[in-house]
Amino acid sequence: MCGIVAYVGQKDAYPILINGLKRLEYRGYDSAGVALFETDIIVSKKKGKVQELVNFMDTRPRNGKIGIGHTRWATHGVPDDINAHPHSSGNGRLTLVHNGIIENYALLKAALEKEGHKFKSETDTEVLVHLIEEIQKRDNLPLEEAVRIALTRVIGAYAIVVLDENEPGKLVGARKASPLVIGIGENEFFLASDATPIIEHTKRVVYLNDEEIAVVRQSGEMEIKSINNEVLTPFIHELDMEIEMLEKGGYDYFMLKEIYEQPNTIADCMRGRLNAEEGWIKLGGVDEFANRIANAQRFIIAACGTSWHAGLIGEYLFEELARMPVEVEYASELRYRNPIITEKDVVIALSQSGETADTLAALEMAKEKGALIYGIVNVVGSSIARMTDAGSYIHAGPEIGVASTKAFTAQVTLLTMMALRIGYQRGTISESYFRLLLNELASIPAKVERVMASNQLIEYIAGEIKDRPNALYLGRGYNFPIALEGALKLKEISYIHAEGYPAAEMKHGPIALIDENMPVIVIATNKSAYDKIVSNIQEVKARKGFVIAVVTEGDTVISELADHTIEIPDTEEPLTPLLSVIPLQLLSYHIAVMRKCNVDQPRNLAKSVTVE
Ligand code: F6R
Repeated sequence: MCGIVAYVGQKDAYPILINGLKRLEYRGYDSAGVALFETDIIVSKKKGKVQELVNFMDTRPRNGKIGIGHTRWATHGVPDDINAHPHSSGNGRLTLVHNGIIENYALLKAALEKEGHKFKSETDTEVLVHLIEEIQKRDNLPLEEAVRIALTRVIGAYAIVVLDENEPGKLVGARKASPLVIGIGENEFFLASDATPIIEHTKRVVYLNDEEIAVVRQSGEMEIKSINNEVLTPFIHELDMEIEMLEKGGYDYFMLKEIYEQPNTIADCMRGRLNAEEGWIKLGGVDEFANRIANAQRFIIAACGTSWHAGLIGEYLFEELARMPVEVEYASELRYRNPIITEKDVVIALSQSGETADTLAALEMAKEKGALIYGIVNVVGSSIARMTDAGSYIHAGPEIGVASTKAFTAQVTLLTMMALRIGYQRGTISESYFRLLLNELASIPAKVERVMASNQLIEYIAGEIKDRPNALYLGRGYNFPIALEGALKLKEISYIHAEGYPAAEMKHGPIALIDENMPVIVIATNKSAYDKIVSNIQEVKARKGFVIAVVTEGDTVISELADHTIEIPDTEEPLTPLLSVIPLQLLSYHIAVMRKCNVDQPRNLAKSVTVE
């Protein structure tokens, strides 16, 4: 939530900042702004997407080899020009961009108002820049020292970058619970919320840790200190990412590109980890803690949103294949309960971004209670990836569409491998079934490719239901989480109200909603309880519901009953979600396009939810 980017070096900062903001727009798009420093700091900001700022900049000065930029997802204060970042100190000397929330801003603001500070915006961020100004001017401190002292008084989350008009040639950045990456070029530095704005300039990066402050200078020097004033030695990482991964590559939307990437991303997730011919699975993180994981009392899976749906599939997989007791928790609920977690538990976090504030906080709580923390994360070097005891990256590559697609299937692939690996060690799965599932899993990328062949049919069906105000998704067993995921995809990008339900639960309430206007999407590929799902479809049809069924290739029973059927290739039941989710992703995509919604940037959403 909120993206920040900054540059100091020998080149013009403006194009670097604008390109960076475009890359970070997935993090929020309520307003955007830049501050450029040539002889003075000039701030330009605009409500709306980055393009509004670009249009506005046609009439504004764009010079300067130093600058900071921001794209906002509003927390404190409505999205407008005034609340947009950057924010400036009262004397105009300091300018700051911020991602996060200053929780004690009201107290700080009241104290600053007593000192005579006047605020223009409703934001917590403006309070922070005034606080730095107050500390700086009281003791005549250099910028980095004023920032450091100010941050000791702040409660909350922040990634910030600050410019000082009286100290040209340098930027000061800091982080706590919101990400900040520093790119190192030739006498130039790039600071950003993630590596995507940096990759086209350099692959050498430093991931700032919590409560660290960086000073980067036009002369090419960098210093990093802790908030307690200790000098630290930065660790330089080499980025494993190519610029093409961040482009749409001919697709209209990133979401569509990411849906179509899934045969590759699922294969990438398995690469080097699964060998069907030789019959093994290797997962570095699991292998390292093999006994502790295999003998755990219980797994607790913590996640949010789509990642939580993947976690629910994980529960079915771990129970069936590894006979392991599992609880799946919304991270936001887990952290605020007083859960019973012990050192015998393994807490598995699922997160595409690796930055979701609730998931991070739940893990910190579980870590304090002594549980082993295992991360299943996409973004390399992210906060969750760095705080876990062990973990596996899903290797889905950058996911830019706000609605998660390829990260979901990669998470499910990883969970499947993990369940198989642990089940094998625990002896809860037979050698023959283990081998069968390995072979089947290896064939999933090709089968996903085959599902894509139904795209035209799915587009046609989308046209039939695009104007209906509601939709119901039903599934049983492994397909129940897919019903939830299908409904979430539809509501978040097309703004149609949708509910996912276990198919058998329908008769306990939702059946009252069914009439000829209600599209009911039934994921009916099950082998177990097949007759039961057929009965559920009959119950819907008896009430004139409009049934769209996802079925296994060659199914003739359901195609007689349903208004439309979408076929997916046959597979073993535990692997079904990897195929059955694809038509639902495509269905939501086409409906959203037909309703002229911004598929990649749905209203009110942001991709990396760094606020609680
Ligand atoms: C929905 C979606 C969100 C995320 C959720 C968790 O399409 O993308 O529901 O799944 O915000 O995000 P991560 O996985 O980054 O922790």
